Formats: sequence, C-alpha cells, structure tokens
Amino acid sequence: MDIQLATVNDAKEIANMSRDYIEEGLDWSWTEAKVAYAVREPETIVAVAKTGDLLTGFSIMFFKESTAHLSLLAVKPIYRRLGIGRELVSWLEESAKTAGTFYISLEVRKNNTVAQNFYQNLGYIPNNIVEGYYQQKEAAIKMVKDLSVA
Ligand SMILES: CC(C)(COP(=O)(O)OP(=O)(O)OC[C@H]1O[C@@H](n2cnc3c(N)ncnc32)[C@H](O)[C@@H]1OP(=O)(O)O)[C@@H](O)C(=O)NCCC(=O)NCCS
Repeated sequence: MDIQLATVNDAKEIANMSRDYIEEGLDWSWTEAKVAYAVREPETIVAVAKTGDLLTGFSIMFFKESTAHLSLLAVKPIYRRLGIGRELVSWLEESAKTAGTFYISLEVRKNNTVAQNFYQNLGYIPNNIVEGYYQQKEAAIKMVKDLSVA
C-alpha cells in the first residue's frame, strides 16, 4: 500500500466515495469537479492510498497560513481496520509539519462515533459542537491536534 498525491484521474472515484461514505444523507457537495479543483489547487493536498492501481482510501487537507484543516477522509468498507486511515492521516500530518504547520483542525458528524473514536485514537481532541453545521441537518464535533505537542 502506497500513500501518494491524487491526480485528476482519481477525482471521480474520490467524489463517489465522499458521496457514499461521508456525505450520506446530505446533499452531495464534493462532486468530481470540486475534487479535481482541489487536486490542482496549490493550498490543498489530496492524498490517496493505493495498492497498485486500486484506490482504497483518500483524504483531503487544506492549508491556511498557520493551520491545516483535515476536510475529508474515507476508506472503502472492505479495506477498513487495516490501518489505511491512520496511514493517510499520518502522511498528511507529516506534510503539514514539513510545511511548518502544526495545528490541525477538523469536523466530524455528531452521529459518526466511529470517526470520532478513530480521531481521538490519533490524538485529536474534541473542543466544540456546532449545531446544524451540516446543511442544518446535523451537528459537527470540532476536533483539534497540536502537532508540536503531540
Ligand atoms: C473513519 C475511517 C476513515 C477509519 O479508517 P480505517 O482505515 O478503517 O482506520 P484504521 O484501520 O487506520 O483504524 C485506526 C484505529 O481507529 C479506531 N477505529 C477505526 N475504525 C473503528 C471502528 N469501526 N470501531 C472502533 N474503532 C475504530 C481503532 O482504534 C483503530 O485501531 P485498531 O484497528 O488497531 O484497533 C473509516 O471507518 C471510514 O472511511 N469511515 C467512513 C467515512 C468517515 O467517517 N470519514 C471520517 C469523517 S470525514
């Protein structure tokens, strides 16, 4: 398994994974065009986990001046619990450190306790709840990690 930068050829599969595994029950916002834009955008890293040509997971991180925001992360169901999610996050954290960015934030759906546990396991700390964050349908748990402390 390899973690690498996505190309625009990966955009459709990433968008479909976002629709099916992350945005389920919400209006689909991460369309192929939006993912392709993120792939080209210099302030954004779109990382994919691949075994040969097979894409098993992806993650998207936006870089701001002194912080980074982990926006999306998903692993295909049959490849879960194999450490791929952890590898993707670790790869992005290393990228952030290389860029001199040590503060990572993210939001996770309030009902998504699996992802909350996953992130807590990786050292992310819940620090806020935002009601209606997801299209007024669901609250978000905000989580943060200070890589300089971690
Ligand atoms: C959250 C997600 C990305 C985790 O990916 P993964 O590759 O299965 O995670 P890992 O195998 O790296 O798991 C790392 C640790 O997280 C915890 N964890 C992951 N999935 C878990 C589950 N279903 N139940 C309990 N703990 C879990 C475990 O502590 C695990 O370590 P262990 O397997 O050694 O016990 C994956 O479940 C997923 O794609 N979910 C749907 C999309 C989503 O919710 N994305 C996050 C919000 S954008």
